[in-house]
Amino acid sequence: MKALLWASLVTSTFGATHNDEQYSPPFYPSPWAKGEGGWADAHQKALDFVSQLTLAEKVNLTTGNGWMQHHCVGETGSVPRLGFDGICFQDGPLGIRFAHYVSSFPAGINVAATWDRKLAYTRGQAMGKEFSDKGADVQLGPVSGPIGRSPEGGRNWEGFSPDPVLTGVFTAETVRGMQDAGVITSLKHFIGNEQEHFRIVREANGYGFNISESASTQIDDKTMHELYLWPFADAVRAGVGSIMCSYQQINNSYGCANSYTMNSLLKNELDFQGFVVTDWGAHGTGVASAFAGLDVSMPGDTDLGSGFSYWGGNLTIAVLNGTVPEWRLDDMAVRLMSAYYKVGRDKLRVPVNFNSWTKHTYGAEHAMVGPQHGYDIVNQHVDVHRGQSALIRKIGAESTVLLKNNGVLPLSGTEKLTAIIGEDAGPNAWGANGCEDRSCDNGTLATGWGSGTADYPYLITPADAIQRTILDKGDGLVDLVTHNWAYDKIQQLASQASVALVFVNADAGEGFLAVDGNIGDRNNLTLWKNGEEVIRQTASVCNNTVVVMHTVGPVLINSWYDHENIKAILWAGLPGQESGNAIADILYGQVNPGAKSPFTWGKDRESYGAPLLYKQNNGNEAPQIDFTEGVFIDYRAFDKTNTTPIYEFGHGLSYTTFSYSDLQIQKLDAAPYKPTTGYTSPASSPSNSSKTWSEYLFPESIRKVPLYIYPYLNSTDPKEASADRHYGLPTDQYIPAGATNSSAQPLHPAGGAPGGNAGLWEEVYKVTATITNTGTRPGDEVVQVYLSLGGPDDPQIVLRGFDKIALETGQTKTFSAVLTRRDISNWDPVTQDWVVSEYPKTVFVGSSSRKLHLNAALP
Ligand code: NOJ
Repeated sequence: MKALLWASLVTSTFGATHNDEQYSPPFYPSPWAKGEGGWADAHQKALDFVSQLTLAEKVNLTTGNGWMQHHCVGETGSVPRLGFDGICFQDGPLGIRFAHYVSSFPAGINVAATWDRKLAYTRGQAMGKEFSDKGADVQLGPVSGPIGRSPEGGRNWEGFSPDPVLTGVFTAETVRGMQDAGVITSLKHFIGNEQEHFRIVREANGYGFNISESASTQIDDKTMHELYLWPFADAVRAGVGSIMCSYQQINNSYGCANSYTMNSLLKNELDFQGFVVTDWGAHGTGVASAFAGLDVSMPGDTDLGSGFSYWGGNLTIAVLNGTVPEWRLDDMAVRLMSAYYKVGRDKLRVPVNFNSWTKHTYGAEHAMVGPQHGYDIVNQHVDVHRGQSALIRKIGAESTVLLKNNGVLPLSGTEKLTAIIGEDAGPNAWGANGCEDRSCDNGTLATGWGSGTADYPYLITPADAIQRTILDKGDGLVDLVTHNWAYDKIQQLASQASVALVFVNADAGEGFLAVDGNIGDRNNLTLWKNGEEVIRQTASVCNNTVVVMHTVGPVLINSWYDHENIKAILWAGLPGQESGNAIADILYGQVNPGAKSPFTWGKDRESYGAPLLYKQNNGNEAPQIDFTEGVFIDYRAFDKTNTTPIYEFGHGLSYTTFSYSDLQIQKLDAAPYKPTTGYTSPASSPSNSSKTWSEYLFPESIRKVPLYIYPYLNSTDPKEASADRHYGLPTDQYIPAGATNSSAQPLHPAGGAPGGNAGLWEEVYKVTATITNTGTRPGDEVVQVYLSLGGPDDPQIVLRGFDKIALETGQTKTFSAVLTRRDISNWDPVTQDWVVSEYPKTVFVGSSSRKLHLNAALP
């Protein structure tokens, strides 16, 4: 096997090795930040700051001070001498976790369903402001990994869509919004983190799996570029300050020690100028990860709460004894501080005013070790959530996809008797925040579970909002049955109803918590809590049944979607705190639906391809998750196997209708593509710290907190200080070739600027079409541009552009989108660059991936 992989390696013109197999070739040295592409100012400020620091102070910025040692889910060490507090990292992608008086926004998957760039930006900005005002410096989100390879993936909903263009656009808009609000975004999880099963050894062991290493996702170079890396490139171009490396391995090398993914892809090819932070506890090696491109270890300890660290004092030792050159440490600190200055944290910072480990006002300063080591005010209960409800409600409504409508919607609100059926319409009897990190499916589902959740400040249920709407509009009767097994009651009510609104759901989350036997990933794609039967019971007696689904992704609807009594179907995703109001807005026509499904609704699980790995397949070693489907996930898989979905990717109805005409494609005057050539400047250090060991002994002036991670040494004897049995091993046995080389390095042909070669972003075609609202209501249409790249190995079509257009009744507007060079290119593993193939290419414009009303050849 190994020989085969090596045989496929080719040495390219620029000297690096590469492959079209699933392999992570070593790449050293770790590229140093250069302050390019909008980073110059921040970089200079970071250099100025870091040049004042001692060795221990620099190390302190690279390493968290340990699990539950401070307010935030992770905090780096501080620089007290300069009055600089440690950097506070806090979850997550839809709001502030572990805090109250905060908002719970719609999930990423809902943002994707809006297909609305501006809403994505505005949501990002609103979240960023809350983080900033609570004193968090880094928001751990958004998510573009998982992208959604397998529909069961537990955390797909935290991200956007299995389409890389849709995910890329919304990742970039979210990053911009959050960072414009003054908080650093940490985009996660880099990369190939597509399932919860087997991501962490200890977690898997806890579920009874006997594995000794985390799973490895095997991704070939072309798939990596054309699918998984794509949205990360968009984010780097948008100036993302931080990227979180993932728990699992990529091509059998851990995400936070993988020199190919961090050094080569991210820092060399994409020219990323910010910092890479580990996922929590994903740090598994000291010197090796420093060389492989890791910049910050979180929460700093080896295992959470162990009191030991791969970095901290050990990194101090590694620099003191010359193993890790000081320029690499400096680069870590400079990257962190560049991100800090880039988003304007220096101007906006307030002290952290919440505490992740208690909601009480007073509490332990170091929750890990208890109040005897410090007890103080830890929570100021600062209310940052006000003023967001209208935005959250709007995103909720505008992300609700009308999948089917046989004329029943919108409702008038004056129906004689409205039946509301299903547990998903009502509240959680334990309270909206009653389950740890939302790890239960009680009552209406408005978010998944895990670290990607926030406390609801309140949760409007569908039942609340619908009843209120009906009472406001007239004096119809309304009643509800929320017991999903009370068939008699369901039938009694539904059989009398003018309209029956059935609410069902399907949940998923992060692997550290299991719900109903689902260890993060869903065990299957069926509805939860007997949902199918609730629908059948209702539809069997009410010929005006409307189904609303709150789900984390696709579910199997084959057994009921075409039932003659089911007149309308809506997918409302995970809308957050305003859930009920948002669905009422759609049901009663306050908002005309304009959302489109960000994933495909298949007839069965098989049609999606890309299986999730649920069972060990490599003995006790790392389970091997082979991404053999390549770029063929979601609609690309359906197209490839000629499988007709029930509702295709991009599908979504409106209460009005639209017509499409007059497709024009204009070739733009773009400069020819120039692969980047030349060299970087050599590595340099802003300062040269003292290398006198005794200067780094634990200072007597500091009170030592147990299990806290410090940058100091407890002895000037290296072996004793490091507590490493192997200390003193000849460095050539573990330092990878080239890792300490500080000389100028060749630039990557596809690189040279953040996000990649500027020529890739050059606009090469303009696509226009005419869209008319032919119905009887104002409405929004999401016009979608697909491209056939034409090659035998290419998907039939790939999404390449879209815009949401608001049209009054009878109004006509011109839609336009541009194609960049990257849009029309394929990744070439041999030249390690993007190339436009010679195959004829066709542009399609339509209202979904299968309603391609217009097409024309790319001239
Ligand atoms: C692990 C999760 O994978 C990550 O997304 C999260 O940010 C960290 N835990 C911190 O809670």
